[in-house]
Amino acid sequence: MKASRSFASDNNAGVHPEVLEALSKVNQGHVVGYGDDPYTASATRHFRRHFGEDIEAFFVFNGTAANCLSLKLLTKSYEAVICAQAAHIYVDECGAPEKLTGCKLIPIATRQGKLTVEAVRHAYHGIGDQHHVQPRVISITQSTEVGTVYKPHEIKALAKFAHDREMFLHLDGARIANAAASLGVSLRQVTRDLGVDVLSFGGTKNGAMGAECVVIFDKALAVEFLYLRKQGMQLSSKMRFISAQFDALLTDDLWLRNAEHSNRMAKLLERELKKIPQIKIAYPVEANGVFAVIPRRAIHKIKQRYFFYMWDDQQSMVRWMCSFDTTEDDVREFAAFVGTAVSGR
Ligand SMILES: Cc1ncc(COP(=O)(O)O)c(C=O)c1O
Repeated sequence: MKASRSFASDNNAGVHPEVLEALSKVNQGHVVGYGDDPYTASATRHFRRHFGEDIEAFFVFNGTAANCLSLKLLTKSYEAVICAQAAHIYVDECGAPEKLTGCKLIPIATRQGKLTVEAVRHAYHGIGDQHHVQPRVISITQSTEVGTVYKPHEIKALAKFAHDREMFLHLDGARIANAAASLGVSLRQVTRDLGVDVLSFGGTKNGAMGAECVVIFDKALAVEFLYLRKQGMQLSSKMRFISAQFDALLTDDLWLRNAEHSNRMAKLLERELKKIPQIKIAYPVEANGVFAVIPRRAIHKIKQRYFFYMWDDQQSMVRWMCSFDTTEDDVREFAAFVGTAVSGR
């Protein structure tokens, strides 16, 4: 099969060669299973170097599980999670968060994929009323589902709102690397230092192959997680093959190199698309995704060569994502093809 690259999803990319090399290196001999191995200890040290010595890190297979188990840890079934209407937990997890936690998700309409304190305040009611679910978690996604990035003060304000009301702030960080790279800050500065309580740390979109991590910033809160992970069927017996991937991503700033590169490719794609008058960029391009409103008649033609997803069919809005392995030539060729397709040539 001929190798090709498209712009459908950062999940469509392969595995970064340095991650594959790390996997191959740990594929030697026998080590104890379920995380009691030196590679998991090493990856955990990396997380502690980034986030602080007093954190706990739990590796899981996918982002849905990282989110669901995080929310399970933080809630009881009569409580609720406030999130954006476009949140992955609300739209794209097949009801798994509701099933696992028993909680109601309260979706809030947003302008650019970001929750605000004002909007959350609106959804925060019925406290102490036995007829109402009790909001316990605010869950945000950074970078957001529409490729925007919360400014640090916006997250800080949400954390303060939550903590003032004995709530928690959960962060879906499937693309946290892209957000940190975009803001030019450390992983800790964009999460823990702003008041995030539990982080779903994404590896897969950053060059791993099914490696995600739940980072819990309060050790006392983390105690139950061991059991929840196993009960949630996310405890890997051959844990070293997840750990080794994080070891690679967190060594020599591979996470940052990958994120900076994919963000840069998205900016290039935005610049190229802006040269096409029939195309309107829908959201600020602040991470590795470009959302564009394009003439409907061009969609079929573009899809014949490049697979991608519609984001909003009604508005004829598409989502184009860049990855660690997207090249400048890929971007220019794609934009040129899109230009031809929309002009009807
Ligand atoms: C915002 C966000 N959160 C979480 C995930 C993780 O999903 P998965 O369970 O497919 O790893 C994704 C993947 O597309 C995502 O875009």
